[in-house]
Amino acid sequence: MPRAVRFSRYGGPEVLEIAEVDRPRAGHGQVVVDVVAAALNPGEIGIREGVFAAIWPARFPEGQGNDFAGHVAEVGDGVTGFAVGDEVLGFAPRAAQADVVVAGPGALTAKPAGLGWAEAASVAGAGATAWAGVEAVDPRPGETVVVSAAAGGVGVIAAQLARLRGVTVLGTASEGNFGFLRGLGIQPVTYGPGLADRLRAAAPQGVDVYLDTFGAGNVDTAIALGVRPDRINTIADGRAVQRYGVHSAAQEQADDPVVWARLAALAAQGEITIPIAAVYPLERVRDAYRDLATRHVSGKRVLAVKPLPEFEGDHR
Ligand SMILES: NC(=O)c1ccc[n+]([C@@H]2O[C@H](COP(=O)([O-])OP(=O)(O)OC[C@H]3O[C@@H](n4cnc5c(N)ncnc54)[C@H](OP(=O)(O)O)[C@@H]3O)[C@@H](O)[C@H]2O)c1
Repeated sequence: MPRAVRFSRYGGPEVLEIAEVDRPRAGHGQVVVDVVAAALNPGEIGIREGVFAAIWPARFPEGQGNDFAGHVAEVGDGVTGFAVGDEVLGFAPRAAQADVVVAGPGALTAKPAGLGWAEAASVAGAGATAWAGVEAVDPRPGETVVVSAAAGGVGVIAAQLARLRGVTVLGTASEGNFGFLRGLGIQPVTYGPGLADRLRAAAPQGVDVYLDTFGAGNVDTAIALGVRPDRINTIADGRAVQRYGVHSAAQEQADDPVVWARLAALAAQGEITIPIAAVYPLERVRDAYRDLATRHVSGKRVLAVKPLPEFEGDHR
């Protein structure tokens, strides 16, 4: 029987189980996808721990994961544009970490043949979130852009999308990620106390745009540096959005297969890299979330629902 990640009470990674579930069929207007890879995102930790229960309650037994890539296995009546065997990527809220998902055609787009499965599985989540933030602040050639947590899943994509617009990108990170970021054309700066002074020294010309993907006072730093609120986006600081009126564009604002296709094409063509920090087999989902919760990474952590030949021997 197909497997799916489930949890039946709020708690730590130990509440996560691999359940056997019935194989879904494609109803009218639906597509069934055999999942190959599904990404992990920090927001899923908060949902599973019950931190967001007031706004996004779980319906037990709850599924997990949103963004995935796989093969079309069945196409329901009324669906055009997809056929059995197509390689696709998409978004299945709280359902993606499973052997099989059901999605509407509006939640899928074609996976370019040249794009790896783990990378493709990260497009509709971290990729779309990064895209939305960059679009909101519209960096222009010659400008200087700061990205906080630039080695994180969203930050590393946002920083590269900004670079494509002909800007200088400063990315905050810990020292272990400095070489990684430099390899992507991003100038690293240490986060933490004294950040504003380090950014002033690194960008004597001034900072035009600030993409915050971590919270923890980054928007305050941006304001202190003189960045205009309409050139600041945060995906992790609701208080700063209220206080300063900065943008909060995130996944929802780029929840669009057209955007995913553009991102996937950029990645397949090598215009951007979606770095894969670690791949875990589905049955090691608890370990994957323990590692994710450290909040230190170089790119994306992804679950291999089916074996990923390109990561053979490289699974955590
Ligand atoms: N609303 C949405 O649609 C949406 C969608 C996706 C994500 N998000 C949110 O966006 C945030 C980022 O997500 P993500 O997937 O990019 O997370 P992630 O991959 O877990 O980000 C980890 C990064 O954070 C950095 N970091 C750790 N401590 C830091 C600190 N004190 N100051 C600055 N950076 C620090 C780490 O840098 P080093 O490894 O270099 O130490 C690491 O690279 C999360 O809060 C997530 O919930 C929102």
